[in-house]
Amino acid sequence: MNSQDIRKKFLKFFEDRGHTVVPSSPLIPDDPSVLLTTAGMQQFKPYFTGDADPIRDFNSKNTASVQKSFRTSDIDEVGDKTHLTFFEMLGNFSFGGYFKEEAIKYAYDLMKEYGLEIDYVTVFGGDDITPKDEASERIWKEIGIDDIRFEGREDLFWGPTGNEGPCGPSTEVYIDGVEVWNIVFNEYYRESDGTYRKLKTPGVDTGMGLERLTVALQDKDNIFDTDLFSPIIELLPDELEEKQKRVIADHARGISFLVSDGVRPSNKEAGYVLRRLMRRVITHQYLYGEDRKDTFPLSPVFKKVVDIYGGFYDELDLEAVKDVFSEERDKFLKTLRRGIKELNNMESINAEKAFKLYESFGLPYEVTKEIAQDKAGKLNREDFEKAFDEHRAKSRAGQEAKFGGHGLILDTGELKARDKEELVKVTRLHTATHLLQASLRNTLGDDVRQAGSDITAKRLRFDFTFDRRLEDEELQEVEDWVNDKIERKLDVQFKELPYEEAIESGALYFEREKYPNTVKVYSVLDEDGKPVSKELCGGPHVANTSEMGKFKIIKQESVGAGVRRIRARLE
Ligand code: SER
Repeated sequence: MNSQDIRKKFLKFFEDRGHTVVPSSPLIPDDPSVLLTTAGMQQFKPYFTGDADPIRDFNSKNTASVQKSFRTSDIDEVGDKTHLTFFEMLGNFSFGGYFKEEAIKYAYDLMKEYGLEIDYVTVFGGDDITPKDEASERIWKEIGIDDIRFEGREDLFWGPTGNEGPCGPSTEVYIDGVEVWNIVFNEYYRESDGTYRKLKTPGVDTGMGLERLTVALQDKDNIFDTDLFSPIIELLPDELEEKQKRVIADHARGISFLVSDGVRPSNKEAGYVLRRLMRRVITHQYLYGEDRKDTFPLSPVFKKVVDIYGGFYDELDLEAVKDVFSEERDKFLKTLRRGIKELNNMESINAEKAFKLYESFGLPYEVTKEIAQDKAGKLNREDFEKAFDEHRAKSRAGQEAKFGGHGLILDTGELKARDKEELVKVTRLHTATHLLQASLRNTLGDDVRQAGSDITAKRLRFDFTFDRRLEDEELQEVEDWVNDKIERKLDVQFKELPYEEAIESGALYFEREKYPNTVKVYSVLDEDGKPVSKELCGGPHVANTSEMGKFKIIKQESVGAGVRRIRARLE
């Protein structure tokens, strides 16, 4: 069975059993507390906590998805048989629809449909905090699974992600000695004081790695021999070591998906993750080429990634991937040679030296570790990151000193202001952002939804769902509509309403945002008191649009599949 069919079969199985199939969310979540999407459940968090209603959004309490996921935690393991950075997670979820009985039965039945035999399963053995998961043990036994192994909290108890929230035991399915499916039962709520209470509506959150499942179904020895990877590996020169080929194949996939979701190389957050992947690949290319006249090209590799995955993920953008990669390559090659020379002159490499190589020559940890080999025998990631953090703390202190030590007087995540003067500016731009969204919907239709927003004293930046470039006339119309509302000196008001009522009133809201039970709804009202813009929002806003000045769109950009970005300012 090829990987396309494996995905299809998974989704169909759950669709036939009353699940709504939900597309993968992007690798960059809107939740600022997480860097990258690491599991299928992430986009469903508000449904588990009861902050959003699955019936309203999916017409079902049960969903299934194939989710693009990325974990940096396994980066040092890449090259063995089972670990990856980017991977696909197959998952079924229930928000108060069904629980252990059905979830375990589904897992068993689907494995049977795939023709796979379960080796053994693991079940939470209990401790003094929460008891053994006897229900799961019983259900597996009734189905006919005899090999049940009990494990502790560290392996089989999930969540909460913060200090409090839904959490619970999991049960895992093993095939050929490898864990393929993790089935989490959110049955408790952990309070901030550390006590656990049973949830009234428990949930199911499962995750199965597509790559590992494919190894079993295609009867391969490791993930790189499956059809998800072998066509990529085949393109790489024979002279490379097996591990190098695997790292390049894994990273090429990660790079392609990150760039296509709008990430660009930088020195922080997701941009830094992307930069590390790129620089490691570039280093392998460089070292290979140093001994020969030429090196191997990466374009065919990226093209192959798009060939393999493009059918399922439309957002893959080969041109963007190639462009961003070659730009980073040009930049990095300038210092790479000097960095390697410096490194070769060092007798041994500890965390400080490794950090210096990063700072002066842009060599990421993995590159230094790989080139230095034995000389960096004692170097580990933890120490490197400590050196990195210490440096960052120092430079942050420097920044604060530069700004007079005031720090920020406003930081809502979306709006940032350092002093009163900036506060006035970001407040105006914030109201302009609301008008911009209303205006975009006026010109382009109601499918336009907010996908992100970031406001500084100088400009607003608004991301929204729309699948093509805006024509010049459309941009002009959007700008004119906003300026019309500004010139008409309209009042801005807010009301406090229960969340449900606010949504029913037709106020716009940011889908991925988590809102409290009582929310503020800000409206810009026309001369008859009818809203021209109405949004759930914490503020602050101007009291009247006459305070704003002239609205000007600076540029439009694309930020990944189906999402566009507009930058604008007030003059
Ligand atoms: N959240 C669990 C995991 O990441 C199940 O989806 O494995």
